[in-house]
Amino acid sequence: MRRTPSPNIISLYSSLAVAIFSTAIFLSISFIFFSRINIMDYVVFPLTIFSVTFFLFRFVLVRFIYSKIKIIYKTIGKPLKFQTEMRDGSNNVMKTVERDVAEWAINKNKQIRELRKMEQYRKEFVGNVSHELKTPIFNAQGYIETVLESDLTDHNFIKQYLEKANSNIERLETIVNDLLEISKFETGRIQLEKEPFDLVKLFKKVIFQYQHIAQQDDVAITIHSEENTIFVFADQKRIMQVLENLISNSIKYGREGGKIDINFYDLDEQFLVEIADNGPGIREEDITRIFERFYRADKSRSKKVGGTGLGLSIVKNIIEAHEQTINVRSEIDKGTTFSFTLQKYIPE
Ligand SMILES: Nc1ncnc2c1ncn2[C@@H]1O[C@H](COP(=O)(O)OP(=O)(O)OP(=O)(O)O)[C@@H](O)[C@H]1O
Ligand SMILES: [Mg+2]
Repeated sequence: MRRTPSPNIISLYSSLAVAIFSTAIFLSISFIFFSRINIMDYVVFPLTIFSVTFFLFRFVLVRFIYSKIKIIYKTIGKPLKFQTEMRDGSNNVMKTVERDVAEWAINKNKQIRELRKMEQYRKEFVGNVSHELKTPIFNAQGYIETVLESDLTDHNFIKQYLEKANSNIERLETIVNDLLEISKFETGRIQLEKEPFDLVKLFKKVIFQYQHIAQQDDVAITIHSEENTIFVFADQKRIMQVLENLISNSIKYGREGGKIDINFYDLDEQFLVEIADNGPGIREEDITRIFERFYRADKSRSKKVGGTGLGLSIVKNIIEAHEQTINVRSEIDKGTTFSFTLQKYIPE
C-alpha cells in the first residue's frame, strides 16, 4: 500500500533540497568573487537555511493541510478532534483522516443501497396493495352487477350472488385490517397487554381450531414437551395470532400426509419455540424476503389456498414488539422450521 508522506517528511526533503541548492550557489559565488571558502560556510550556512526553510515549509504545509482537512470534516459531518496532533505534522493525522473518510464513504454507500432498496420496496408495496384490493373489488362488483341486470325475481339466485359479493367484501376487510395492524405496529401505536399464560394450552387451542384442515390434508401435529405447562409472560391474544399463522402456514404450505412438530427449549430467561414441518421448503432467495408484506414464495400455491402474504409480516411485528426474535430455516424437500423466543414467566 502506498504510504502518505507526513508534513514533517515533505518539509524535511524540501528544505534539504533548498539547503543543498542554495549552499552550492553560495559557495560558488564566494569562490568566484572572493576566492575564498571558509569552513564555517560549509556548516553554518546550510544549517541555517535548512532550519529556517524546514520550519517555514512545515508551518505553511500544516496550515494548508489543516484548512483542507477542516473542509473535509465539515463535509463528512464529523467533529475534528486532533488539532494538537495536527500542529506537530505527524503522519498519524493523515492516517486518521484517510480512515475517517473511508469509513464515511462506506457508510454513505450502505445508506444509498438501503434507500434504493426501500424505494424499490415502496414501489412494489403500492403495486401489491392496489393489486390485492383490486381483485375482491372487481369480483364483488361483478356479482352485484349480475344481480342488478337480472330480472330480480329469482330470490335464490340473488341470495347466492350477494353471498359471493359479501365474501369478497369480507376479504377486502381482512386485507385492510391486516394492513392497518401492521401500520400500527410499525408506528409503535400498539399497546401490548402482557400477562402470564400457559403456552402449551394455547397451542392445544390453536391446533384444535385447525384440526379439520389438518385432517383433510392428513397432517399430524404433535406437541413435544416434557412439561405439561410452559408459562410465558406475553400478550396472549397476539401470541395466539402468531401461532394461528405459523400453524396454518405449516398445514397450507406443508405436504399432504406430512407432519408438524412443536418443540420448546429452555433458554434461562426465555423459551425458544420451534414449529417444524416436513413440507417442500422455501428457496434460499425467498427466505430473506418471507417476512415482507405481501411476499409469497410459492405464488400459485398461495393463491390457491387464499393467502395474502401479510401473515408473517404481522407475526414478525408481534414478536419484535415483545422485544423477542423470530427466525426461519428451511431446506428444499426437507421442510421448514420457524423458531421464536418468548419471555419466561418467573413468579416473584
Ligand atoms: N411452512 C412453510 N413452508 C413453506 N412456505 C411457507 C411456509 N410458511 C410460509 N411460507 C411461504 O411464505 C409466504 C408468506 O407467508 P404469510 O403467512 O406471510 O402469507 P400467506 O399465508 O400466504 O397469507 P396470509 O397469512 O396473509 O393469509 C407464503 O405465501 C408461503 O409461500
Ligand atoms: Mg399465512
